[in-house]
Amino acid sequence: MTDARRPLIAGNWKMNGLKASAGEMRAIVAGASKAAKADLLICPPATLVAEFAGIVKKGSPVAIGGQDCHAAASGAHTGDISTEMLADAGATAVIVGHSERRADHGETDAIVNAKAQAAWRAELTAILCIGETQAQRDAGKTLDIIGGQLRGSVPEGATANTLVIAYEPVWAIGTGLTPTVKDVAQVHEYIRNYLKQYFKNDGEVIRILYGGSVKPSNAVELLAVPHVNGALIGGASLKASDFLAIAAAAP
Ligand code: PGA
Repeated sequence: MTDARRPLIAGNWKMNGLKASAGEMRAIVAGASKAAKADLLICPPATLVAEFAGIVKKGSPVAIGGQDCHAAASGAHTGDISTEMLADAGATAVIVGHSERRADHGETDAIVNAKAQAAWRAELTAILCIGETQAQRDAGKTLDIIGGQLRGSVPEGATANTLVIAYEPVWAIGTGLTPTVKDVAQVHEYIRNYLKQYFKNDGEVIRILYGGSVKPSNAVELLAVPHVNGALIGGASLKASDFLAIAAAAP
């Protein structure tokens, strides 16, 4: 993930996938040349990171990432995985602060901030997720929430190579619902202005992904929104044909 201006189409497999899913991963790698305009990233469960990294050939536009990490490099943290371990397994990126981690595991902005710094320590790109709940949107607080999450979770010193922001409205994840193009544009413009203010030139090119019920049928429309520099895809990333169709929609 070196050219920060290329769109990034990232798949988050969540808690899905067994060794038998290697065929789907191979199909993604084989079809990746059709999506030559975009960088592709697949974040399988931790059990498959090494295996999938082995499938990706050098020079391929496909990279492998983790879905979460611990902030420490090693130690007595049963069940956790460090960024050094992910890098050792062949990952080049890691998702931090996904709303399912924030909700299910009580992750605060401070924890997410520490995890992003841990990603950088191991030379991984942090794919940092932010997004409002339905109640927050209904209360007209979307931009306040997004601003607070940016201030709290994004560490100082972010660059276009080390940080990707994923805007994922919590109510759009896995529901089939998406915000209007106008709403997406408003939030992405707000994020872009924040990044420009704090990270100067890098802030112009740090990629901002949209996530939440992205599928082949809405990808063209969503990926064409100003300051949408790619997508983070859950459900539709599990099938190579759907994931590649979304990637092909990248402008
Ligand atoms: P979804 O998930 O595409 O299944 O809505 C998106 C995400 O959680 O990253």
